[in-house]
Amino acid sequence: MNAPAEIHKVIASLPHSVLGYRDFALGSFRFRRDEYFAHIEWAARDGRPMSHTMDAGDFLRAMMRDIAWGFFYGWVNFDDVFGTLNHYKSVDLYAGSYNGTMTEAGVDLKENFPTEQIRATFVELLDDWTNASFDPFAAPQETGSPYGRKNGSNTEATHRVRELATRCVGLRDDLSLRSDASGAPVNRAFVDVPQEQPELHPEPGFEDEVHAFNLFGFLSRSQVTWNPSFTSVVKHSYMCPTTEEHKLPIIHGNDRVEWFFQMCDEIHWDCADKNTGKPLARVIMKAGDMAAMPAYCRHQGYSPKRSMLLVWENGSPSLVYEIQQGESPEVPVQF
Ligand code: PHB
Ligand code: FE
Repeated sequence: MNAPAEIHKVIASLPHSVLGYRDFALGSFRFRRDEYFAHIEWAARDGRPMSHTMDAGDFLRAMMRDIAWGFFYGWVNFDDVFGTLNHYKSVDLYAGSYNGTMTEAGVDLKENFPTEQIRATFVELLDDWTNASFDPFAAPQETGSPYGRKNGSNTEATHRVRELATRCVGLRDDLSLRSDASGAPVNRAFVDVPQEQPELHPEPGFEDEVHAFNLFGFLSRSQVTWNPSFTSVVKHSYMCPTTEEHKLPIIHGNDRVEWFFQMCDEIHWDCADKNTGKPLARVIMKAGDMAAMPAYCRHQGYSPKRSMLLVWENGSPSLVYEIQQGESPEVPVQF
């Protein structure tokens, strides 16, 4: 384990003389980008040099979410090979460890880092590798190219903070409603969504307790994709709606059950075994459908046009350990 003073230290090269990007190192992993690709290098268990290549846009979109979501619940697979596993105080970084073929071949590597150390490296890498033209949170049709030699930066986009209500959107001292004035115009796909707010008639003294807002209107004004925000929080029950377009930039491996409610349009999901990647199911969700993702799966969604999805999370900090001990089920319901 690193000494505390070392944790924030990011190991990076000078900028490449032609491409302009810096290389990064974290533990035994090396990261390098060129005009089109991110390259990850490590050594297999027997010392053989290993490498993995990802499209630079795909890599940066996944990296953006991993950072913004604080390494999320469980696994954030950037693709079938590379990703992170959140232990909530530390994070595993791996290549091939949840890929059945690679573990069988013995070419996988997994290393554990204090959360602050991996976060510091990822933040600097994302800032360095994201050009001025590219917003990793935006739908591909709503942003410029991630490719080419280093050309400026977009720290305004890469340092966006997640929108998290503490009780409910629109309550006093809580997350505000979105509006044109707050820099959140209605998205091109949602111009038909009514924007009226519900009428509220609380008894005197209950103005901070009785509440409602137009969730469809709120979502129609989301400026980003695949980025659940908290709109209501009741103990560990988090309502995390989000607008989706193109594909979920990560393959999420669950350490708990999570629920999906398709609020409009449709999303197609690929579901697989979270440990090996072996395909398990296709789930086609249309407006009004609900589904639950069991704790043993990983999943990636495809949204052909911008859609609204409500993700319902159980944020209990002890749940993952209760599931490991067999005290809580891996599935939402048993028939
Ligand atoms: C998920 O992994 O379940 C997930 C993540 C982000 C989204 C939607 C779903 O926007
Ligand atoms: Fe998920």
